[in-house]
Amino acid sequence: MSVLLRKSDLTVGRPLPNDLVDSNGRVLLARGSVIDSQTKIDDLIQRGVSFSEYLTLSPGAATRKKLASKFHADMNPFDVLSVVIDELQSICCADIPSTGFDEQIQILATVIADTCDKSPDAALASLVLAQKASYAIKHEVDVAILVAVIGQKLSISQKERLSMMCAALTMNISMLEYQDWLQIQASRLTEDQLFVIHKHPLEAVTMLAQVKVKDPVWLQTVATHHENPDGSGYPRGTAGSDNLPIGGQIIRIADMYTARISARAFNVQENEKATLADIIMMGRKQALTQELTEQFIKTLGFYPPGSFVKMVSGEMGIVVRRGKTMNQPIVYTLITASGGVLGSPVKRDTSMERFAVTSLVPRGEVDVKLDAPSLWGFLRS
Ligand SMILES: [Fe+2]
Repeated sequence: MSVLLRKSDLTVGRPLPNDLVDSNGRVLLARGSVIDSQTKIDDLIQRGVSFSEYLTLSPGAATRKKLASKFHADMNPFDVLSVVIDELQSICCADIPSTGFDEQIQILATVIADTCDKSPDAALASLVLAQKASYAIKHEVDVAILVAVIGQKLSISQKERLSMMCAALTMNISMLEYQDWLQIQASRLTEDQLFVIHKHPLEAVTMLAQVKVKDPVWLQTVATHHENPDGSGYPRGTAGSDNLPIGGQIIRIADMYTARISARAFNVQENEKATLADIIMMGRKQALTQELTEQFIKTLGFYPPGSFVKMVSGEMGIVVRRGKTMNQPIVYTLITASGGVLGSPVKRDTSMERFAVTSLVPRGEVDVKLDAPSLWGFLRS
């Protein structure tokens, strides 16, 4: 049997897309059958099952087909990106496959690019709203989302944009577990830890080369994703924007932004505000590429989708779309001026004086359960 299914390949209540077969190719459940309990799914996975269509394919083709089958046309962008994170975790945190690794990462990059092209505001909101167990894996997907959106804004070719996104999805592959562990460390980094961090871009390139990644844009972007134009970055300390590939520089900015807005122990929204200010400041000091920094701020706006804001009216709400200017997003009111929770959010155009944004609001101050897909106008998948 070429490709065994995992628990996440089967869903209670969803018709099977193909015949389910055992290791001898014997059909256990016909296409269209519905499994009615998780216990039955667990039993089947334990036995080792696959879809019949995979039996006729080469292992690489079956793996690609299996990965592509996770994404359906009727899925909302939040669910698509959630599945991308789960699949990236599965590809990069288990034994990395010696064949087909690059193709699987390319499939995930293409799915992210399509999602960002169709629903950029929802994709950007997922940076703030989606929660996942592994910080390190979600961080790479978050950076890939930003690369997709900024790359599209800069009219970078689709081929180069996908290569840069593949780099974002694999930039820290040599230290994913270590990164999760560092994330919860309260004390300052030790010399040994800094050594591991400083060598991770080149170690990642070595690992990628070992699993037959040959794309020079992908590899160069990973190698330079911590270099700064003023020479203060690592591992090589290369100076000058002209000496650094654009992908590495976009990732450098996106990496810094997402690292600081990620849900950690501190206040997310206050931190996001500081991050935008930091990016402007660092761009001016040449520690980041200034032109890209400006483009980044222009693209996200001062109140990126997913931010919680207060308006002149006294209402609080969530940014669902970027507006015509950087500080005039479209907001859905969640809390009235008197503190009442709205059953149905009300759309506010903050370019109108009485609904102008006055400040960002910490997520904890907006005590409302959110249904992100419906807020962005999607049905639950
Ligand atoms: Fe990194």
